[in-house]
Amino acid sequence: MYRIDILTLFDLTVGDVLSESILGRAQERGYLTIETHQIRDYTLNKQKQVDDYPYGGGRGAVMQADPLYQCWKHVVDTYGPGRTIYFSPAGKTFCQADAKRLAFEETHLILVCGHYEGIDERFIEECVDEELSLGDFVLTGGEIPAMAVTDAVSRLVPGVLPDPECFEHESHWDGLLEYPQYSRPEEWHGRKVPSILLSGNHAAIAKWRRMQAILRTKRRRPDMYEKLDLSSTKEDVKLMKELREEYPEDFPSQS
Ligand SMILES: C[S@@+](CC[C@H](N)C(=O)[O-])C[C@H]1O[C@@H](n2cnc3c(N)ncnc32)[C@H](O)[C@@H]1O
Repeated sequence: MYRIDILTLFDLTVGDVLSESILGRAQERGYLTIETHQIRDYTLNKQKQVDDYPYGGGRGAVMQADPLYQCWKHVVDTYGPGRTIYFSPAGKTFCQADAKRLAFEETHLILVCGHYEGIDERFIEECVDEELSLGDFVLTGGEIPAMAVTDAVSRLVPGVLPDPECFEHESHWDGLLEYPQYSRPEEWHGRKVPSILLSGNHAAIAKWRRMQAILRTKRRRPDMYEKLDLSSTKEDVKLMKELREEYPEDFPSQS
């Protein structure tokens, strides 16, 4: 069973969010365990203080190494070692390839949420395997990144979703953004569902979806489009010819 331990100052809130819906059901069915740990429970002082002033001066407070270490040690002693990740705006930006790597190459994650001005560097040096960022912005705490990473990793863990097909054609799985999706009714506010999707012709639908995925990737994420290999199968070569004819502005000459 896959296990995720989250070290946080907001254990109840994080635990509540992650026990809803798909992740909640996956835990009930035994595919996954997510446990939150209150870092304050591992302080030795009566006030349960976990932070102090930064050496060298400056505003704000820094989370001290020892409460984090005691909390981390409790998890490791109880459940065994796990890949320890600290969330930080100075970390590598998390992406779907990281979600795959963590879901398929690990079975136990220990996620550490910082707060205030961050955490004492010595805890990172001693216990952390990697630092991940959610993006180039600064949040007040690591809880939202921890929930985002837990969600992205958990849905890839075998059994959590009914079938790998649920995630294999989604955006970022194979370098493409997903095609547009539609549901009932066939017409809404005068907008019709593309007729091909109502045709029942599975091959034509699959082709339309791949064309739309390529077109959307080209328009929205040229950086991703540049990395695609669309010339090594006969089907893609034919598809690209059709795309150039149909959308000459998006695919001028040999783009
Ligand atoms: C206010 S931030 C500290 C920012 C830190 N002083 C800096 O400039 O890099 C408090 C905590 O929020 C979390 N955090 C903030 N932004 C994040 C991001 N983009 N990705 C991941 N974690 C983030 C980290 O755990 C961090 O310790």
